[in-house]
Amino acid sequence: MSKIFVDACFGKETPYTPVWMMRQAGRYLPEYMKVRAEAGSFLNLCHDPKKACEVTIQPLDIVGVDAAILFSDILVIPHEMGMDLEFIKGEGPVFHKPLKDEADIDALLGGEEAANKLTYVYDTLKLLKEELPEDKALIGFTGAPWTLATYMIEGKGTKTYNLCKKLIYTNPELMHKLLAKVTQVVKYYMEKQILAGADVVQIFDSWAAALEKQAYFEFSWKYMVEIAEYLKEKYPHIPVIMFPKGIGQYLDDIYGNFDVFGVDWSTPMALAKEKLGDKYVLQGNMEPCRLYSKEKTTACVEKIQEVMGGKRHIFNLGHGILPDVPVENAKHFVSECHRVSKKA
Ligand code: CP3
Repeated sequence: MSKIFVDACFGKETPYTPVWMMRQAGRYLPEYMKVRAEAGSFLNLCHDPKKACEVTIQPLDIVGVDAAILFSDILVIPHEMGMDLEFIKGEGPVFHKPLKDEADIDALLGGEEAANKLTYVYDTLKLLKEELPEDKALIGFTGAPWTLATYMIEGKGTKTYNLCKKLIYTNPELMHKLLAKVTQVVKYYMEKQILAGADVVQIFDSWAAALEKQAYFEFSWKYMVEIAEYLKEKYPHIPVIMFPKGIGQYLDDIYGNFDVFGVDWSTPMALAKEKLGDKYVLQGNMEPCRLYSKEKTTACVEKIQEVMGGKRHIFNLGHGILPDVPVENAKHFVSECHRVSKKA
């Protein structure tokens, strides 16, 4: 059976425009909070394929989205490369021993050996493959090497990225050494996700906007394209989605072999369509905070539909859903996307 979401990723005509939400499995769902409490912690949940599978499916049953995204986190990659990771309540993810020098980078586990430590992710995907309805797509994902490197170097979320940027401008070779090592692991990791059952993969570059244009293409986009091209060469039937957040000013320079470009909420959809719409299917891009108002949600969904005309498009938010959004409003978003795009 063909999956509407996969067809849409390849720009084929579909009966309606499919929709999913970044971070759709999470704290706004009481059902998620219950399973996380049973697991004891967020990381325990990621390590438990049965429970991870359960929370992956929740937004399909509750909110009605057209695709499931594997429940995990981008930071399990550096964690399995040997960095001690903790999710601290109210603070977010922390690596207690961030990378300080070349010896720390050399000490990281690399390549297939690191990717092999993520068996719990592949086990979750295999379970999901059995549990998911046949018409729903399963999305695997990774963080972009640059976004992962920001956490590995800074140790946690940062507003200034000064340690990363110091490395970029004072020792670019060492930054490239780290990025190349992470890229190698991610290639194997994505490949193993596909072999375990992912129908589509997305690369999240959440902190793309931290870099000036030249640095962006040299230190981030290049590596994302390398990963995408590796996958497209071996698995052409698996769509690759790129989501570099906040680089609307750089759209003229976007290149590479991938299928879908994720448009963030700060980039006007009409601009993205003009610059990239012929080359890539576009995903997005409602400002996630519009979900606080059903009325503003409807207005935005209608506007996006007007711009895209139901062609070469996948509905989504322009970044992740926030934990205090009412579930009712998330359902409203999904049903409005279906309503406005349903073909007679
Ligand atoms: O539903 C889904 O989208 C799948 C699961 C998913 C999570 N993280 C679960 C999660 C996905 C795709 C991610 C990706 C991720 N993780 C990104 C890229 C996407 C983005 O939002 O930009 C980033 C930057 C991270 C790193 C991360 N993980 C941060 C900064 C935090 C803390 C902030 C926050 O949102 O809580 C996390 C924790 C996290 N990852 C949670 C979930 C459900 C919350 C953990 C909890 O239950 O308390």
